[in-house]
Amino acid sequence: MNRRRTNKAVARMQDALLRFYGEKGRDLPWRRTRTPYAIWVSEVMLQQTRVETVVPRFAEFLRRFPDVFSLAAAREKAVCEAWAGLGYYRRARNLYRAARLMVHQLAGRMPGDEAAWRRLPGIGDYTAAAVASIAFGERTAAVDGNLVRVLARVFALPGRTATPRLVRAVRAQAQLLVDCEWPGDINQALMDLGATLCRREAPLCPRCPLGRWCRARREGNPTAYPGRKAKPARPILRIAFAWCERGPALLLEQRPLDGLWPGLWELPSASGPRAKQDLGRRFGQAVGLRLASVRHDLTHRHVVASVYRATVTRQPGQKWWRDPLVAPLSSLARKAIVAVREISEKAAPPPSP
Ligand code: ADE
Repeated sequence: MNRRRTNKAVARMQDALLRFYGEKGRDLPWRRTRTPYAIWVSEVMLQQTRVETVVPRFAEFLRRFPDVFSLAAAREKAVCEAWAGLGYYRRARNLYRAARLMVHQLAGRMPGDEAAWRRLPGIGDYTAAAVASIAFGERTAAVDGNLVRVLARVFALPGRTATPRLVRAVRAQAQLLVDCEWPGDINQALMDLGATLCRREAPLCPRCPLGRWCRARREGNPTAYPGRKAKPARPILRIAFAWCERGPALLLEQRPLDGLWPGLWELPSASGPRAKQDLGRRFGQAVGLRLASVRHDLTHRHVVASVYRATVTRQPGQKWWRDPLVAPLSSLARKAIVAVREISEKAAPPPSP
């Protein structure tokens, strides 16, 4: 898209967002004021807290502390009491510290720009941008999870939720959108869009003011954006199995009734990072050649099992099985037995009839 067309599309999106905000934006008490103090208090309350929880507390807090001077003059205990029901009391203590700082060092003035807000206790990137844009009209995007979801979809941005790469890409697009006369309203329109229509699951695309620009919607699968968080890597569990034959029979042992594969049968085993050595120690002699290795995925672990030739005598809980595949085997043991048989059949194919 060339620059002129981009600008036109951005201007149309801005119009659509501002119209949506005017007509469908949520009627929230901090939106009926442009007082920086009230907006600051609301944004701190909204950190990690739902809008519905904040609404009644916000009005009550402002009744008790109507401006930065009354807040700074209070006792910390009284501020924390007024914070009751919101949780995360550290926010109340930071709010109080910041109020005292403003009164004692800035003659009661609120910082005028985002960078100065950012330096106050308890103010992160998001809150600084929200206050600066809503209260002071600074053209800066307040990027939170909602906004990432909305813009990742609209622009079909690759990358997983909360990765720096995606957040950077979202911020770049968001900056274009807030570059207008009403950056605070654009930010709040995007917040509302994320909260009410562009939901994580089952987004209400037909009602979305950005629907006709939304690439994820055009692709037919808006919830594919943003990409899901990477699952934490599953740890590897190493298992060593003993392959111990007596004529045609194979030695198996029954697993304990608790833990993995309770009561099922498998090759005699040891597990852990030194599984092979531990298996040898169990039988009082080093195990021999590795016959096969198999992998197996469990919900929380990847299993890597190696099967070693061994010559051992039968111990309690073990049994010789002439046809081990009819035993109630664990899925892993079945895989391991089949793997060893396949490998030995390949190595020594049966004589052709
Ligand atoms: N969450 C954080 N800031 C908000 C705001 N100004 N309006 C609605 N939800 C928000």
